[in-house]
Amino acid sequence: MIRFENVLKDLYNSPRTWLITGSAGFIGSNLLEYLLRLDQIVIGIDNFATGSERNLEEVQSLVTSDQWSRFSFITGDIRNLEDCQKACKGVDYVLHQAALGSVPRSLNDPITTNASNISGFLNMLVAARDANVKSFTYAASSSTYGDHPALPKVEENIGKPLSPYAVTKYVNELYADVFANSYGFRTIGVRYFNVFGKRQDPEGAYAAVIPKWIAAMFRDEDVFINGDGHTSRDFCFIENAIQANLLAAVADDSAKNEVYNVAVGDRTSLNTLFEILKSTLAENGVIYKKEPVYQNFRPGDVQHSQADISKAATKLGYEPEFRICEGIAKAMPWYLKN
Ligand SMILES: NC(=O)c1ccc[n+]([C@@H]2O[C@H](COP(=O)([O-])OP(=O)(O)OC[C@H]3O[C@@H](n4cnc5c(N)ncnc54)[C@H](O)[C@@H]3O)[C@@H](O)[C@H]2O)c1
Repeated sequence: MIRFENVLKDLYNSPRTWLITGSAGFIGSNLLEYLLRLDQIVIGIDNFATGSERNLEEVQSLVTSDQWSRFSFITGDIRNLEDCQKACKGVDYVLHQAALGSVPRSLNDPITTNASNISGFLNMLVAARDANVKSFTYAASSSTYGDHPALPKVEENIGKPLSPYAVTKYVNELYADVFANSYGFRTIGVRYFNVFGKRQDPEGAYAAVIPKWIAAMFRDEDVFINGDGHTSRDFCFIENAIQANLLAAVADDSAKNEVYNVAVGDRTSLNTLFEILKSTLAENGVIYKKEPVYQNFRPGDVQHSQADISKAATKLGYEPEFRICEGIAKAMPWYLKN
């Protein structure tokens, strides 16, 4: 944590200007809160496709009015180059989070996913390059490992993408590499593995597993497990992802034009996740007595996932602070309140 603590001290002592795309979403709004608490100057852009005003209002309620006054928000769309150019003006560090997540969404509507995740990404690269930003960190995804069977996942060994979403995230990495080689614009991709925490939307057909199951348990509804429950994931608490973003943003050139796994290095099956959520809810006074309902495997899903995080540890100084149970315990009060 020494590297990260030094980064925080340095940022606090000499605040920089950040752009967070997708700042009204789950990861974006958590980055926003963290940076404002550090007295940074932040620009946000979002088109509210999946993010919400409510997330921004919540951040506002958690920081001082002085800190909030350092935030300026653009209602805009990264599919529009002019919006990206406007957002990049005067920015030191870009944290590019805006995209349409969800494997099933991309299977249902690959064209819309492609437009935000590929064309939007390219617009952001061009705008950030032309604005001479100091660094560009972007949200990559563990879905890029596709059908590669090896565990744990090492950055260099990827398989064939299993969904349109995975294609878009892989294309981001390809574009990033081409921008480094063609224009000397060197970026960092943070390959997230199942990030979870407060402000992750529990509602809708495309909700992520943790908020979706907590909501179902809270309402005493059925919890559906896709497959036999042995499917596994490396669940990563939001605070770990924030640490990785900040380390990546300030990393020196030798760490750039690379992608890094951002997770914990653990592997938790869906059956175990069910038990963890049940017992954490019980500790908070919510007793769930139903058994999970097993249904078919979901098309496009990777079967098993676990990250090797040694590259991020060595080159960025990344040290995840929270394992799954600690993260769930920290996030639970928010879920119960919301
Ligand atoms: N949450 C995870 O576990 C996870 C895992 C791997 C990768 N990622 C990536 O991390 C990023 C953030 O994900 P999240 O979980 O916070 O999702 P999210 O849906 O909560 O946030 C994405 C934000 O981007 C905005 N957005 C989408 N299209 C846009 C557009 N065209 N113009 C402007 N804004 C747009 C949305 O409105 C939303 O606020 C995404 O790039 C996602 O692909 C997330």
